Amino acid sequence: MTEIIRKVTDLRALVAGWHRAGDTVGLVPTMGALHAGHLSLVRAAQADCARVIATIFVNPKQFNNPADLAKYPRTEAADLALLQQAGVDVLFAPPPEEVYPLGFASTVSVAGVAGPLEGASRPGHFDGVATVVAKLFGMSRADRAYFGQKDWQQLQVVRRLVADLNLPTLVIGCETLREADGLAMSSRNTRLSPRARAIAPALYVAISRAARDLRAGSLAALDTCHAALLDAGFDSIDYIDLRDGETLLPLSAPTSTARLLVAAWLDGVRLIDNIPV
Ligand code: PAF
Repeated sequence: MTEIIRKVTDLRALVAGWHRAGDTVGLVPTMGALHAGHLSLVRAAQADCARVIATIFVNPKQFNNPADLAKYPRTEAADLALLQQAGVDVLFAPPPEEVYPLGFASTVSVAGVAGPLEGASRPGHFDGVATVVAKLFGMSRADRAYFGQKDWQQLQVVRRLVADLNLPTLVIGCETLREADGLAMSSRNTRLSPRARAIAPALYVAISRAARDLRAGSLAALDTCHAALLDAGFDSIDYIDLRDGETLLPLSAPTSTARLLVAAWLDGVRLIDNIPV
């Protein structure tokens, strides 16, 4: 039975008991609208940890666009059913005032790795992510936390945050789960119209081709990828960039740690993806 906890004091008391019993505690932070990708994070946590907490909190601080926050799917009952089925011990789903009580005045801001790509396209987004992740780690005192590689830059921001602030939580990055046609699983996919859903797999096809062409030494690979996405029906492209996978600094040619990252708009939905090169 998955227990729902809404208060930090209750979560702390439960985790303290687990730690006293010698149990390792895994955390799967989410914003809800759970799909198979989230459940794969749960399974990874269960493989490593005696106890697993999933969190659902639609964090207002990481939305630079209020319309995006308003449209974000909220499906707690269905999410809880999935977590029950998966055998998660606790769902921590605090109300906003529990996370950001009156007088809350701190922001965690990660420089460098948080600056380009998503950081440039969505000003303030990673301040919101870093702040809430630092809080979720502090609130839960989890030993390990599981993040998807689909949000590659977020994963690097969280790793930087943990290293810089000497946080005791070990961060684990898990493989992106894809639909059969290659589309990376995302809560945003539910907002795609049938037409857009049919076009969306072109994103993974295009970056896979570009990665292959980059490895073969093509200088035009990124321009070709851009054109292929527009041809496929994407409305605009925020970025298609070759970057170092850890520092997110730009690269002009592949290296052993290179990563190709993309963000593109399709029928009002912003899709992101990334692959190693
Ligand atoms: O990836 C997400 O769902 C969110 O950014 C996270 C890590 C739960 C923080 O709100």
